[in-house]
Order: sequence, then structure tokens, then C-alpha cells
Amino acid sequence: MTDLNGSVALVTGASRGLGRASAARLAERGARVLVHYSSSRDAADELVRDIRAKGGAADALGADLSAPDGAHQLAAAVRELGINQLHALVLNAGIADLATIEDQTVESFDRHFAVNVRAPFFLVQQLLPLLSEGSSVVFLSSVVARAAFDGTSIYSATKGAVEVLTRNLAKELGPRGIRVNAIAPGAIDTDMAQVFLGTEEGRDYIKALQALKRIGRPDDIADAVLFLASDQSRWVDGRSIEVSGGANL
Ligand SMILES: NC(=O)c1ccc[n+]([C@@H]2O[C@H](COP(=O)([O-])OP(=O)(O)OC[C@H]3O[C@@H](n4cnc5c(N)ncnc54)[C@H](OP(=O)(O)O)[C@@H]3O)[C@@H](O)[C@H]2O)c1
Repeated sequence: MTDLNGSVALVTGASRGLGRASAARLAERGARVLVHYSSSRDAADELVRDIRAKGGAADALGADLSAPDGAHQLAAAVRELGINQLHALVLNAGIADLATIEDQTVESFDRHFAVNVRAPFFLVQQLLPLLSEGSSVVFLSSVVARAAFDGTSIYSATKGAVEVLTRNLAKELGPRGIRVNAIAPGAIDTDMAQVFLGTEEGRDYIKALQALKRIGRPDDIADAVLFLASDQSRWVDGRSIEVSGGANL
């Protein structure tokens, strides 16, 4: 069983959905988890209480990653906790407001790139002093970086950018022993995916796209995050691993 005792992991967007499941899984395996949230403070505090009640260690840290200095503020909050080494940095926080090209706006375009691309990039930059030999950076991409879906053009473009960042940062940071990878989920049952999964027709549509005929669960992704965050993936670098039940084969 993966042992993360003695390590520290920051998971952005850990108040809900995939980030929450990933943070809980890393804590279960012994990591001290920094649970980042933006608007869902109560949910983040509840997760921290759960982790501590099970004997683990966790702290909640708030920051709005749509703000130009959001990443800088979050990195400063991590340093203020006295943390001097991060074993895992899971860049999970993200937004997806789907719309046809006619209904898209400059504001929505900028907000998607701010939260989904700019903030993770600058978090890596700002937290570099805490990353060292053996540290693992995990981005959250999506199957939409590879396959086109209706109404997802801007969101998909942000995930395409995330995959490019994954390869480039892996090359740049590899000589320091820092690995950088991405997980690309298919549709997983969280708040974000309710646009597809909120109806029986939507669930049937998603199942029809997949080789495996069930709806993805947050723990399906949490296990993949655990793999990439741990030493078990020590020779995996610069890659995006799709975790989608075989979507759009
Ligand atoms: N679910 C899927 O089907 C799916 C598929 C492929 C990829 N993904 C990717 O997986 C990641 C997590 O998705 P999810 O489904 O778990 O989404 P979710 O349930 O909507 O949760 C989103 C998380 O991101 C945080 N967040 C949103 N806006 C933020 C902001 N301005 N500043 C800081 N944090 C912010 C939220 O924090 P607060 O609630 O505290 O504001 C929340 O914790 C995203 O990057 C998403 O693109 C999801």
C-alpha cells in the first residue's frame, strides 16, 4: 500500500468533487494535506475535521484563483504554515461554463484561462522553492483536450494548454528531480459534470461514449492522483494519463 507518511501535499479545489476525493485519499495514505478552497469554506473545514478525526493532518487554505495574485497568495499562505517541502502539488481547481461560440464572452474566456491555466502555472512558479528531488506535480486535464464536445471550446482550450504545460514543465524541472504529469478524466460525477450527468439521457449519452458502462466516480480519479503523487509512478514524467473508462476510443 502506498505510504505517504511524513509528506505534505497541496490540493487546490479540495472543497468539492475530485479535489476533495483526492485530498481525502492522500490523507488516508499518511500525507499532511493542505485543503485549498475558494468559496466553499465550510466544506473545506468539514474535510479537515474528517481527516483529523481519522488521525490524519490537514489545514484549510482559502484563495480565489481567478485573481491575478491568487496563486501568489496561496503560495504565501503555504509558506506561512512553515512548510518547507511539498511532496505533491495537485493542481485541480477548475471551472467549466459551457456555451456555444455565439454565447461566449471575453470575460468568460479570460476567467477560464485565469483559473484553469494561469493559476496552476504560477502556483508551480511560486512554490518551486518547496519542490525538490522526488516532488510530484499533478495537473488536472480532461478527455476534452483530445476529443471535441458541444459547447466546450474554451474549457477544452484551457485543458489543451494544461497538457502543453505538463510536457514543458516536466522537461524544465526534470533535472531537479521534480516530476510533472496530468490526469485527464472523462465525465465524473461531480457538480461540474452535472451539465452532462444531471439527467438520465445525459448519463446514457456518456455511457455510450465509454467502453466501461458505468459513470465515473471521484474515487476513480483520486486513485490515479495517488499513483502520480506517489513514488510508485517514479518513472512516469511529462505525461497525461486518461482516466475515463475508455471514453471516445
Ligand atoms: N468532473 C468531471 O467530469 C471532470 C472531467 C475532466 C476534468 N475535470 C477537471 O477536474 C478538476 C476538478 O473538477 P470537479 O469536477 O471536481 O469540479 P467541481 O466539483 O466544480 O469543483 C471545483 C473546485 O474548484 C474550485 N474552484 C472553482 N473556482 C475557483 C476559483 N476561482 N478559485 C479557486 N478555486 C476555485 C472550487 O472551490 P470552491 O467550491 O471552494 O469555490 C472546487 O473545489 C477541474 O480542473 C476540472 O476541469 C473534471
